[in-house]
Order: sequence, then structure tokens, then C-alpha cells
Amino acid sequence: MSDDKPIISPEQRAAYDRVNTMLNRLTLVAVGIVVVVVTLMFFPQGLDLGTADQVAATEVPEVDPLEEGIVDGIHVETGFVVDEGWELVRANCTACHSSKLVTQNRADRAGWESMIRWMQETQKLWDLGENEPIILDYLAKHYAPQRKGRRARLTHIEWYELEP
Ligand code: HEC
Repeated sequence: MSDDKPIISPEQRAAYDRVNTMLNRLTLVAVGIVVVVVTLMFFPQGLDLGTADQVAATEVPEVDPLEEGIVDGIHVETGFVVDEGWELVRANCTACHSSKLVTQNRADRAGWESMIRWMQETQKLWDLGENEPIILDYLAKHYAPQRKGRRARLTHIEWYELEP
């Protein structure tokens, strides 16, 4: 031993190697975790490679030929009666809710007007401008109050006790 370079013993060398190997494995595991986390970030639903069902669905689109159409004067998709102004009603009255909310309601012109005012005051319905009278005419014509199905409640009746 002429020079005084520090020399590590074979035992120390072996210990170093063990630590080194361990650190390498930890690095591999850490990289693996990062890869999984990043993959999940970009594909939260998992790696969707497509299923047989999806392929079949895109090949055979299930489109009802009547869906966009008009049958017996009714626009099938919305249920609106097709008459003057119906497209204005479709354009203005189905943005926030279903057309069913319109077609299931009945009111005279004043009633429809007050519903529109209520929506304008509380639901951010826009100003219908010059379309408003056309829309009101349409609604009052096709969604007017129907004849009452039941007679009015009886009043002024002299009730009597049933004999047992
Ligand atoms: C900016 C959104 C918006 C637009 C556009 C809109 N509405 Fe509404 N409307 C609403 C909201 C919100 C309600 C309440 C819904 C509920 O109660 O679920 C409503 C409720 C209704 C109701 C039910 C009222 C009741 O008393 O039950 C009718 C009828 C109606 N709207 C008709 C129309 C008509 C006709 C038009 C077109 C002129 C129209 N809506 C356009 C927001 C809108």
C-alpha cells in the first residue's frame, strides 16, 4: 500500500451495490406509477378500445325515418301542430324546456301572454319582438282551453241523512 487512496473493502463494495440495485428498482416503480397516473388523467374512462356493440351501432344507425318528419299535421319530434308560426314556437320555446311543457298546457291568449311575461321576468326568456303576436296567435289557436270534461261542482244542495 504505497499510495494513500482510500480503498473500500469488498464488504463495503457489496453494500454499495445492494443500495444501488434497490434505488434502481425504486426508480422503476416510481416511473411506473407516474405512467399509470398520467394515463388515468388523460383517459379517465380507461383505455376504450371499442367493443363489438359500438362498432355495430355506428354501422347501423338507428334513425327513425319519421323522427324528423311531420305526420298528420303534427311535427313528430316536438308534438307541435304544424301551422303558421309553429317554427317560431319551436325556435323560441324549446330552448330551455321540452316542447311537452308547451303542448300539455292550455290557455287563452291572455293566459299565454302572462306565462311568457312570467318567463321573461323570472326565467330570462328573451324579448320575442315582432314574433310575439305570431307566437301568441299560434298558442291561443292550438293550445286553447278545452271544454271542461266534468260538470261544475254542485252547490246549494239540501243534503239529507240516509236511513240506515
Ligand atoms: C329562457 C328559458 C325559457 C324559454 C326560452 C322558454 N321558457 Fe317556458 N319556462 C321556462 C322555465 C325555467 C319554466 C319552469 C319550468 C319548470 O317548472 O320545470 C318554464 C315553464 C313554462 C311553462 C309551464 C308554466 C306553468 O305554469 O306550469 C310553459 C307553458 C312554458 N314555459 C311555455 C313556454 C313558451 C310558450 C315559450 C316560448 C315563447 C317558452 N316557454 C320559452 C323557461 C323558458
